[in-house]
Amino acid sequence: MIMKVPLSSPDIVEKDIEAVVGVMKTRFLSIGPKVVGFEKRMGSYAGTKYAVAVNSGTSALHLIIRGIGIGEGDVVIVTPFSHIASSNCILFERARPLFVDIEEETLNLDADTVEEKLESMSGKELARVKALLVVDAFGQPADWDRFKEVGKKYNLKLIEDSAEALGSEYKRKRAGSLGEVGVFAFYPNKQISTGEGGVLVTDNEELARLARSMRNQGSGESGEWLDHERLGYNYRMDELSAALGCSQMERIEEILEKRAKVAGMYGEKLAEVEEVQVPFIAPYVSKMSWFVYVIRMDRGINRNKVIKYLNEEGVQCKPYFTPIHLQPFYRKMFGYKEGDFPVTEDVAGRTIALPFFNNLKEEQIDYVVEKLKEGIKLVVSE
Ligand SMILES: Cc1ncc(COP(=O)(O)O)c(C=O)c1O
Repeated sequence: MIMKVPLSSPDIVEKDIEAVVGVMKTRFLSIGPKVVGFEKRMGSYAGTKYAVAVNSGTSALHLIIRGIGIGEGDVVIVTPFSHIASSNCILFERARPLFVDIEEETLNLDADTVEEKLESMSGKELARVKALLVVDAFGQPADWDRFKEVGKKYNLKLIEDSAEALGSEYKRKRAGSLGEVGVFAFYPNKQISTGEGGVLVTDNEELARLARSMRNQGSGESGEWLDHERLGYNYRMDELSAALGCSQMERIEEILEKRAKVAGMYGEKLAEVEEVQVPFIAPYVSKMSWFVYVIRMDRGINRNKVIKYLNEEGVQCKPYFTPIHLQPFYRKMFGYKEGDFPVTEDVAGRTIALPFFNNLKEEQIDYVVEKLKEGIKLVVSE
């Protein structure tokens, strides 16, 4: 019998519904107390002085790039192995993403390779590099002490794309607070969801002030509706989303525990599957907040055929991620090609994101693992 197991599934409880319906009964559907409350909660959770809520993680990243003054001709170092927004936000301001390859084990940017790249640059090239945009891939914090060293040495801003890492810790410090500014995102596959939404967290008062203005059409300090001090956008988070976010944050510890339990079960059950490599968590990660559960197939196994088999058997799964530099418009804009970032390409050709969400049941995990084994057997025997 085929069991349908989705890739992800939001975890909405009665209290969440009540919180959203409660907002619908008030006059404030946008620009009201829920966003303010959500920002307080997110800032205190991340351990930063300021939090600015917006309508997506992508918007938060865009406001950061603009807010720290990155513009045409500037260069930002970033990973090619991430959600495309990590790099697109740089293009929004006509700056250039400079990709550097990842570490094979953690899937995060390799600080040594970043340093080598910077060392190899001429003075003129180096002068254009303004920031390191470091992603905590799949929720795992990068090696931030190293990135801080490199950032200091080359006088670069440190942006943390912690969109996938809400609740993770690097040496007991929470993700989001590891660079000068961080981001969380709340699409429904994330640890908590607001439907769509994001938040920027920072100790930098000026950056928070600019982001607050730019998310709201460049409004001025007066807050007057039709006063605009600078170019801005409508990146506001609405009150319904913020109410859902606040309500979800009340269960954050429970949510993270549930996800850790699911990851733990996968880890145990997959230990016996020789052809599969489970996620590696670096020793400096003092707490892992699981965003997705991404395995790697051994080289030589046709990953796409395994995915096809799993999909046919009702298990929704996906390759995660396609390298950003190989997306058609990046190839066209910058001339990137296969072979440019070998570690990223090798890993990206072998990954499978398995179904992963808070309430995934053991019998579903057993089914996924069983079908995975069958799929591998089939592909190997071909
Ligand atoms: C690492 C990373 N950065 C940025 C984003 C963009 O967030 P959003 O989808 O909320 O715009 C995501 C979304 O999944 C992400 O995973």
